[in-house]
Order: sequence, then C-alpha cells, then structure tokens
Amino acid sequence: MTLIQFIENDKGIRNMWVREKGFSSLYVRLCRRYIHGNVVSNVLDIASVEASKPGNGAFTKLIERIRKRYPYLTIYIENVLNPRFAVKIMHLGFQRDNTTPDELPSYFKPAPKEQ
Ligand SMILES: CC(C)(COP(=O)(O)OP(=O)(O)OC[C@H]1O[C@@H](n2cnc3c(N)ncnc32)[C@H](O)[C@@H]1OP(=O)(O)O)[C@@H](O)C(=O)NCCC(=O)NCCS
Repeated sequence: MTLIQFIENDKGIRNMWVREKGFSSLYVRLCRRYIHGNVVSNVLDIASVEASKPGNGAFTKLIERIRKRYPYLTIYIENVLNPRFAVKIMHLGFQRDNTTPDELPSYFKPAPKEQ
C-alpha cells in the first residue's frame, strides 16, 4: 500500500509500513494525539522514515504533497534523533512537541484546516 492508499483506506487500517517512491522505509500511523494541551484528531504520525537517497528532496516533497492533499491532517514526526534533520523540519514549519524529552524529541506541523 502506498501512503495515499493508506490515508484513504476504508478498511480501518491505522498503522503500516507503506511503499513510497524515494523512501527505503516509511512507517506511519493515523491517530489522535494530545498536543500542547489539546486533543488533536486526524494526526498522521511519521514514526520511522528513511530516504532511498538522502538529501534528494524526497522528504520535503512528501510533506508538501501531504499538506496540499490533506490540509486537515496534523503531521507528527516521532523521535527525531538526527539534530540536523530537526533543524530542517523546523524550517518546513514543524514545531517541537515540548512534552517530549530532549533524548527523544518529536515535532508536529499543525493542520491549517479543521475537517
Ligand atoms: C532524514 C531523511 C529521512 C530526510 O529525507 P530526505 O529526502 O533526505 O530529505 P530532504 O532531501 O527533503 O531534506 C534534506 C534534509 O535531510 C537531512 N539529510 C540529508 N542527508 C542526510 C544524511 N545523509 N543523513 C542524515 N540526514 C540527512 C538533512 O536534515 C537535510 O537538510 P539540510 O541539508 O538542510 O540539513 C533522510 O535524509 C534519511 O533517511 N537520513 C538517514 C536516516 C535518518 O537520519 N533518519 C532519521 C529520521 S527521524
């Protein structure tokens, strides 16, 4: 299943390793989360991600595509252990979830639109 097929699936599948061009692995979840004091519905977790060729723009394009196609989704990236990548995703509009510890920081990009 691709990421789009996963997000649009009507089989009740809520987490999966998806196939996506430009990525050697991508594990995602659809869930609700408690973020900065609010319950947020329609969260897409990116729980594990590895690009096939790091530095080729695949991740940046993926975030843009998700944002455009699913403006109601909050995107949440779990456990960003690569500090360089943390800086990059903040430039992409992500904020630190300040309830997560420094050793396992997570970041989110709020949905511009409620569904
Ligand atoms: C982190 C990762 C998924 C980003 O995907 P990507 O398609 O390479 O990302 P983009 O090309 O859109 O953006 C480039 C950013 O990726 C990160 N990146 C690029 N090459 C990288 C590498 N060899 N190792 C680690 N991070 C890298 C950097 O943050 C870079 O931004 P910067 O140059 O401004 O610092 C990918 O680089 C990767 O798989 N890296 C190795 C595994 C990893 O660190 N995973 C942790 C994810 S929490």
